Amino acid sequence: MKPVHMQIYLAPMEGITTYVYRNAQAAVYGRLDKYFTPFLEPHEKRSFKKRELQEILPENNKGLYVVPQILTNRAEGFLELAASLHEMGYREINLNLGCPSKTVVSKGKGSGFLAFPEELDRFLDTVFSGLTGELSDLRISVKTRLGMESSEEFPGLLAIFNRYPLHELILHPRVQKDYYNHRPDRQAYCLARQESRAPLCYNGDLFTRKDMDGFLADFPDTDRLMLGRGLIRDPGLAAGEVAEEEKKERFRRFHELVLNGYREWNMGDRNVLFKMKELWFYQIRQFADAEKLGKQIKKAQTLAEYERAVEELFSEKPMVL
Ligand SMILES: Cc1cc2nc3c(=O)[nH]c(=O)nc-3n(C[C@H](O)[C@H](O)[C@H](O)COP(=O)(O)O)c2cc1C
Repeated sequence: MKPVHMQIYLAPMEGITTYVYRNAQAAVYGRLDKYFTPFLEPHEKRSFKKRELQEILPENNKGLYVVPQILTNRAEGFLELAASLHEMGYREINLNLGCPSKTVVSKGKGSGFLAFPEELDRFLDTVFSGLTGELSDLRISVKTRLGMESSEEFPGLLAIFNRYPLHELILHPRVQKDYYNHRPDRQAYCLARQESRAPLCYNGDLFTRKDMDGFLADFPDTDRLMLGRGLIRDPGLAAGEVAEEEKKERFRRFHELVLNGYREWNMGDRNVLFKMKELWFYQIRQFADAEKLGKQIKKAQTLAEYERAVEELFSEKPMVL
């Protein structure tokens, strides 16, 4: 049986899924169901850094359902930051248990926290016990990997998650040491589907519409997907199929919105260039026969050079449907 409405979420991607990106994506391709912010970390001082504040200010996210994500292993820090976000109007917050980067993992955070199940249990206990008074309407979801070393860690972790009323469990079925290598472990996803008390969202390696269709054919009762690199490659991935000309026209508009959005940040041309090049690492795969122009974009030293290369790409190269 087909689910009534397939919910699609934009994955958090540090440096990439900024508010500029979210707004451009929604304006051109239609709103997704949820947008997760790249992770925020609790600070000693309670106030937000300017860039963080920019991401979560309601006026920068008008009309979008945004879920702020927190990275920490300290329950008190989590609750304090959650309280600040609650004050700003947020009612759903996500805990990052997936980040595989060494600097994060070595501090026992992100997927590094998965190596300490007892501490994780205590953390969740303190967090959920802290959702009283003003915070009693706050929903907490978790984005997790399967473990640090082996997917055999996952059943124990799932048993811990099941002790708490998580709003949602988002599973990227790899372990920390995989980083982004190997294939997502679909068997683990199956286990989670059977055993998770919280509604389950799948995340991982859905790069094309064909990947999505194949996944949904294999797991037809899936009702929510989180898309990361695939959606950055093609921001229209979750929108309906269109002819090549229309696809290009939309992507051109999208690109312009993102570029202008970053220009308005006043971060200097070099940083704008850096941000745009980071996107092209994924986006270039949408164009056929574009290796040379991809290199030109990467090598551009000024925004003028950059725009010339992008213009040539748009006018010369067909888009892959
Ligand atoms: C550059 C980059 C930055 C990321 N930043 C975050 C982050 O801040 N928080 C998080 O939970 N996951 C982060 N991720 C992981 C993605 O959200 C997602 O789980 C992962 O890319 C797998 O999904 P995909 O195959 O659809 O891309 C990041 C991934 C990449 C490649």
